[in-house]
Amino acid sequence: MIITIDGPAGSGKGTIAAALAEKYKMAYFDTGMVYRAVGLQMVLDGASLEDEDKAASLAEKLTFPQMIALSENKDFRSDTGSRAASIVSAYPKVRAALLTMQKNFALNPVFADGSPASGAIYDGRDTGTVICPQADLKLYVIADLTVRAQRRCRDLNAAGHKISFEQVYEDMKARDDRDMNRSTAPLKPAPDAVIIDTSAFQLEDSLRVIEPLIDKKLAELSGK
Ligand code: DC
Repeated sequence: MIITIDGPAGSGKGTIAAALAEKYKMAYFDTGMVYRAVGLQMVLDGASLEDEDKAASLAEKLTFPQMIALSENKDFRSDTGSRAASIVSAYPKVRAALLTMQKNFALNPVFADGSPASGAIYDGRDTGTVICPQADLKLYVIADLTVRAQRRCRDLNAAGHKISFEQVYEDMKARDDRDMNRSTAPLKPAPDAVIIDTSAFQLEDSLRVIEPLIDKKLAELSGK
């Protein structure tokens, strides 16, 4: 079973995906990590974020172990890392270089320790539209920009990154604009995606809506 969860930053899709992966014992692929890894490597190399060819060459060489190592860096999820990821993810050459790696995960899903899993949950921006159009269940998670900025600001401050709400709000608005208006694989729901608005939801509320959809799909797949 393959589930895709797409949506803008701060919509709650990552938290939802991780909770579902745990509950249903499925492998989890946070696809934003591939763009964060390339963006952060550009920053660490002192490269201009406008250099699409350099970003594409880093993307072509990116491996899972390198991505995991970069994810330990303090800027992997900081505003600097988020901005760099959003910029490099708009480059068609970068997306093309990272496509196979992301598609292949659905063929052989594995847990973090490398052991095989019977299914995978993807989280990202184009996982239901481009990476896994064949997914069994597609979710598109949204929330008001103000709510998303509040959540992200709280998470960043809790992680020790001092940043104001206004700054997070403006950065998120710019990221939404880049993610939704880029030429390749823009953020949008797949035609068959179920839209979940988490603006007034806690995690438990989202799970209460989504789990019956998964249970129904699992029953269908097992022929019940
Ligand atoms: O989900 P995230 O915030 O970690 O994603 C970081 C950036 O990567 C985001 O600005 C858009 C990009 N991204 C993408 O273009 N396609 C994906 N499938 C996942 C993320």
